[in-house]
Amino acid sequence: MVLFELTNIDKAVKNGNREEKILNDVDLTLNEGELTALTGPSGSGKSTLLTIAACLQNKTNGSISFKGKKISEKNDGSIRKLRAEKFGFVFRHAHLVPFLTVGEQLALMLDTANVKLSKEDKNNKINKILQAVDMYKHKNSYPENLSGGERQRAAIARAIIHDPELLFADEPTASLDSKRSEEVMALIKRLSQDLGITVLMVTHDMDMLEYADRRIEMKDGQITKG
Ligand SMILES: Nc1ncnc2c1ncn2[C@@H]1O[C@H](COP(=O)(O)OP(=O)(O)O)[C@@H](O)[C@H]1O
Ligand SMILES: [Mg+2]
Repeated sequence: MVLFELTNIDKAVKNGNREEKILNDVDLTLNEGELTALTGPSGSGKSTLLTIAACLQNKTNGSISFKGKKISEKNDGSIRKLRAEKFGFVFRHAHLVPFLTVGEQLALMLDTANVKLSKEDKNNKINKILQAVDMYKHKNSYPENLSGGERQRAAIARAIIHDPELLFADEPTASLDSKRSEEVMALIKRLSQDLGITVLMVTHDMDMLEYADRRIEMKDGQITKG
């Protein structure tokens, strides 16, 4: 089943007096539960497409639908609510809050995503997700005391603690060595399967493609394959 659909997406930016098209008539569908990998050369528009899909930046033209309903016609408040409650994000760097422990980062996310649970249930949920990403022993650690792979696992836990339906990941393994990359990728795949999360992931790394159910290639702001 199609969960998410982008149609005829254009993105133009001003470059001096000129308008430059960085996305040109892009269509993309994400099927429920699938892990879709987006590849292509640097500068081809992958991050732009991902951030537009995730409603983190505006498109110039086109429409975006989630579960058959047009997001693009919603007002800013409803888009923010949808993004906070239904979407999760992982980037190349973990972007953890330096003065919060791992457990506190997850608690903050539950509040941001408006999750209505008792304090005890929230704590149980945090423990469960930390066990799933093998970070329970670091619940009370601060980011500065974690390795790169541990930080990224904490960032993944934070990205899914609120049970999002869609996970957007932009080169989540790019700052890791190959062993840690494999671990993080296997983790994303397992969580996507176990929790039924649909994933759109940008990656440069050919070794990561074997984890994808579907592969889409971009070049010069257009989809060329997939
Ligand atoms: N806000 C912006 N203003 C101007 N140019 C941009 C902006 N965002 C992206 N670009 C340009 O658009 C192209 C695609 O960028 P990006 O989506 O980051 O590519 P990728 O993630 O595939 O490397 C690049 O040429 C980049 O320089
Ligand atoms: Mg990019």
